[in-house]
Amino acid sequence: MTTVADVRLRRVLDSRGNPTVEADVLTESGAFGRAAAPSGASTGAHEAIELPPAEAIAKAREHAVPRLTGVDAADQRSVDRALAAADGTDDFSGIGANAAVALSMAAAKAGAAALGTPLYQHLGGTFRGDGFPVPLGNVIGGGEHAADATDIQEFLAVPSGAPSVSDAVFANARVHEVVGELLAERDVPAGKGDEGAWAPSVGDGEAFELLAEATDRVSDEVGFHVGTGVDVAAAELHEDDAYQYTNRVRLRAEQIDYVVDLVEEYDLEYVEDPLDEEDFDGYADLTDRVGDRTLICGDDLFVTDVDRIQRGIDAGAGNSVLIKPNQIGTLSAAFDAVELARENAYAPVVSHRSGETEDATIAHLAVATDAPFVKTGAVGGERTAKLNELIRIEDDAL
Ligand code: PGA
Ligand code: ZN
Repeated sequence: MTTVADVRLRRVLDSRGNPTVEADVLTESGAFGRAAAPSGASTGAHEAIELPPAEAIAKAREHAVPRLTGVDAADQRSVDRALAAADGTDDFSGIGANAAVALSMAAAKAGAAALGTPLYQHLGGTFRGDGFPVPLGNVIGGGEHAADATDIQEFLAVPSGAPSVSDAVFANARVHEVVGELLAERDVPAGKGDEGAWAPSVGDGEAFELLAEATDRVSDEVGFHVGTGVDVAAAELHEDDAYQYTNRVRLRAEQIDYVVDLVEEYDLEYVEDPLDEEDFDGYADLTDRVGDRTLICGDDLFVTDVDRIQRGIDAGAGNSVLIKPNQIGTLSAAFDAVELARENAYAPVVSHRSGETEDATIAHLAVATDAPFVKTGAVGGERTAKLNELIRIEDDAL
């Protein structure tokens, strides 16, 4: 019934207009699952390897499809073991992490469909309604996601007081809208970056002001607290042992002081990748200083990898882990990362990539793992695909 009978792979468009890998998995009973790999722009040096989509597809057809055929799609561990065996490397450079993650997610969907179970339940979750993943909404940004914009990659709305997913999602969209109005009032022209955030040519200081004003206004409007956060994506700024901002250079110690000041001045509730992806000790210092009042989340630092997360735990580096399935290649490996984080009181944050498709698997993954946060933008079709899926899951479950 749930046995994999057929697998197809193709190139489709992602949100940047680049090709990416899409997979279809069909079971013997005719159940069907489809998923597509996302793709990063500010990728971590230690991520699993993405191959050019045409090459990933060719390799996966040769090595993975024969091994997947006959596997039980409802047994995700078996599916993901078959993918790892087909790949034969420790970084998915054999078939490409992009092919692997598309196949892993498509098989999960086929397994869920064959069992007649919603994906979030199939992956182990129940939506309890008392705790839901709070969506982090990217409303202003630059870095690798937009030219001539902020140095810090993402300025985030954090609707931590929202009574429901749906209230939180609409609050973030409203913050995005208010930021647009504030920019217009200031006569600052702004297009949008890769994730749909405004990408004005302003300094980080002005972006913090805009974010604070917009979140305060929206908090008053909606009647619950909408806080703020950032993804510094500091590895992209790090060069020659220092952080290269547009108008100044910050040495490592200055960068740590700067982030401490930002947390205090703007009451940041969430800080992702504040330091370079190799600086476990710097993360530990920063976590000592502000970890009791904010989340210090490792994205490029941890790359969803249990070995790197364990190294962080041992060093006291950070208190939160970003979870991106395509950084590690399979849903099972992403689950293991969530588990390790949770056992050590690190908050898991399930995340999209800057290059996305209409695939909404991460919405189910966030609910399935009971993650306290999910980061998947605020507006734009490939972002709303996930946000609307969260709203549907909430509606389905309450
Ligand atoms: P990326 O950015 O998908 O371009 O890596 C997202 C992030 O840094 O969180
Ligand atoms: Zn990041």
